[in-house]
Amino acid sequence: MSPKARPDEAGLERSLRPRRLSEYIGQERVKDSLDIFIRATKGRGEPLDHVLLYGPPGLGKTTLATIIAVEMGVSIRITSGPAIERQGDLVSILTNLKAGDVLFIDEIHRLNRVVEEVLYSAMEDYAVDIILGKGPSARTMRINLPPFTLVGATTRLALLSGPLRDRFGAVLRLDFYDLDAMEEIVRRSAAVLGVPMSSEGALAVARRSRGTPRVANRLLKRVRDFAEVRGAGSITPVLATEALEMLEIDPLGLDDIDRRILRSIVDKFGGGPVGIETLSAAISEETDTIMDVYEPYLIQLGFLQRTARGRVATRGAYEHLGIVPPGLAGQASLFDAV
Ligand code: ADE
Repeated sequence: MSPKARPDEAGLERSLRPRRLSEYIGQERVKDSLDIFIRATKGRGEPLDHVLLYGPPGLGKTTLATIIAVEMGVSIRITSGPAIERQGDLVSILTNLKAGDVLFIDEIHRLNRVVEEVLYSAMEDYAVDIILGKGPSARTMRINLPPFTLVGATTRLALLSGPLRDRFGAVLRLDFYDLDAMEEIVRRSAAVLGVPMSSEGALAVARRSRGTPRVANRLLKRVRDFAEVRGAGSITPVLATEALEMLEIDPLGLDDIDRRILRSIVDKFGGGPVGIETLSAAISEETDTIMDVYEPYLIQLGFLQRTARGRVATRGAYEHLGIVPPGLAGQASLFDAV
């Protein structure tokens, strides 16, 4: 149940994605900022200033970028940091934009440095300098670009260079959704998909969706299958719970990998602290995946702490795993690690 997007889900996500800010559920702070920002800019007839969205995967960064374009009445070009390999790739994208268009760069922290430098002048001056020829006869030529809005998205704000971060007019953080918002999202998605579902059924799915709409929409599809085969098609809380238990999603939305992370810290490393590289080797998952995908929710639940000396499982983690927490000695090592 990783909140990372899967290639086969693009169609599902598009069909469930809200198109307007008014349809977007949750993230009130971000929505209010964007609403004011968009209205003010439209009132002045200017292109929107560059926006950086950051937060864990699956919370709606691409959705918001698309909404920004719709609300501004412009087109959007969607790409990602790793997809732009050379300066020429970026220059070609930029020169093909129309005035006011949105360029969305997902995983912008993964842009390479050379490409990133092109972005600086593009963002600041709507121009790029390209070098023609080689050696002593090389010349630079400035190409003017249409004014555009860069919407960057990242799961790791700290990996963004200072100069790039400073060029965004608005930096907005997405948080995990609360249970009310998740329930509303599940109900909306069920209605869009035409799946009959009671509000208790929606709540059962929402509870196990780790505050992440992408996970909720994925669970909803699995639960729908289950309800069609085992039930009468309608999603009841009992059916939803049975389906989610079959998928080994526990009542807090933790899956097998979450539990392996916690168990490993507890069983193999005495509750921690344990370095991320060691943990990654112990459970055979990539460091980046653990850090971007799994840890944010475990931290939010208060099950995991990141300390200077490594990861530590909290008392809550022990309790959730049904393991008796160590006595005072264990707690002391937890505190001196902070
Ligand atoms: N689908 C996925 N995320 C959503 C959101 N924030 N609001 C409404 N529908 C959604």
